[in-house]
Amino acid sequence: MESSPFSFLMMTCQVGAEHVLKQEILSKYPEFRFSYSRPGFLTWKIPSCLIQKDKMEIQSVFMRYCGVSLGKITGDDFAKNAVQFWNRIGERKFDRLHVFPKDKATPGESGYEPGLTEESRRIFKTIVSHAPEFFQNKPRFSFPEIEASKGDTVMDCLIAAPGEWWIGYHQAVDWRSSFPGGLLTLSMPSDAVSRAFLKFEEGLRWSGFPIQTGSRCADIGSAPGGGAQALLCRGAEVLGVDPAEMSPVLMKHPRFTHLRGRINQLKRRYFRKSRWITTDMNVSPNYTLDVLEDLVLHPEIRIRGMLFTLKLLKWELFADIPDYIDRIRNWGFNDIKVNQLQFNRQEVMLAAIKNPFHR
Ligand SMILES: C[S@@+](CC[C@H](N)C(=O)[O-])C[C@H]1O[C@@H](n2cnc3c(N)ncnc32)[C@H](O)[C@@H]1O
Repeated sequence: MESSPFSFLMMTCQVGAEHVLKQEILSKYPEFRFSYSRPGFLTWKIPSCLIQKDKMEIQSVFMRYCGVSLGKITGDDFAKNAVQFWNRIGERKFDRLHVFPKDKATPGESGYEPGLTEESRRIFKTIVSHAPEFFQNKPRFSFPEIEASKGDTVMDCLIAAPGEWWIGYHQAVDWRSSFPGGLLTLSMPSDAVSRAFLKFEEGLRWSGFPIQTGSRCADIGSAPGGGAQALLCRGAEVLGVDPAEMSPVLMKHPRFTHLRGRINQLKRRYFRKSRWITTDMNVSPNYTLDVLEDLVLHPEIRIRGMLFTLKLLKWELFADIPDYIDRIRNWGFNDIKVNQLQFNRQEVMLAAIKNPFHR
């Protein structure tokens, strides 16, 4: 338990999403006081009593990482900073160490993708090499990408700028909070035909959907085909719908079929065997939902789960997310989650599944 009546939280998000994260947090947690922000990084002053047993479980669409702040360390000498790091955390007990940067730019902008950097990896190694003997040569402190297990207390070092380390801690409570800064280490395979591969590879892992050999998926707005590749890598059979040309890599794939045209022009019977839908159309959220509704409520179609992007063509659309969720729930999907993922741009990823045990 903290001795001061107030504590500070530090959060990261996509560069450009700070204002929506701020509004979201203020509406859900009225006891939080906004303290400070810069691109991709926010801090909050909160009553210390809200931090119980190091466990802060904040529900947010736009937040990627959240930890209790122990303040910052500045200076360009990594070794000196590392000594200060250990002094700062004192006798606190923890299970993992995560070192990660805040984002520098919007995902996909001029080739930039969020993730651990050479610098953050070097800082991790410097901190470990200055650690008290107890931490040395322990497998769980052996490499920067190491994931925490659910329930672990994680000591965090967030690199906000060169020579500016913010120290904090969090408890791993879910999939996202197990990774350093909520960041997956994922890169584009050399044969990936579009950035959508990263988006859907991350989305599939985040959703936990059991898409595997033989799963039948309809991918709507499939061209050129990176998203479909993420499904094919899992062994799925993919029906891609798009008026645009698919990459030849997809057209050659034995488990991929292209239905060329707009979804609203195609006969519903093509989708009788589909059980999963993915979609990433460059259209408004309501258009995407109209397309999905028309498919999932059709009497001959039995869809178990959907994974798709909702494009926030203007940021203000974030306020409609609860209405989008209600609409999808009315179609019979009882397990729904929505997040702005690491590889999403001005959009969010939504996963909805019908729990077979739910009526
Ligand atoms: C962002 S791209 C999709 C990227 C793709 N998912 C990938 O994996 O490479 C959006 C696509 O949506 C398609 N699209 C837009 N409206 C559509 C509709 N009504 N039916 C089918 N495709 C549509 C566009 O032709 C475009 O290729």
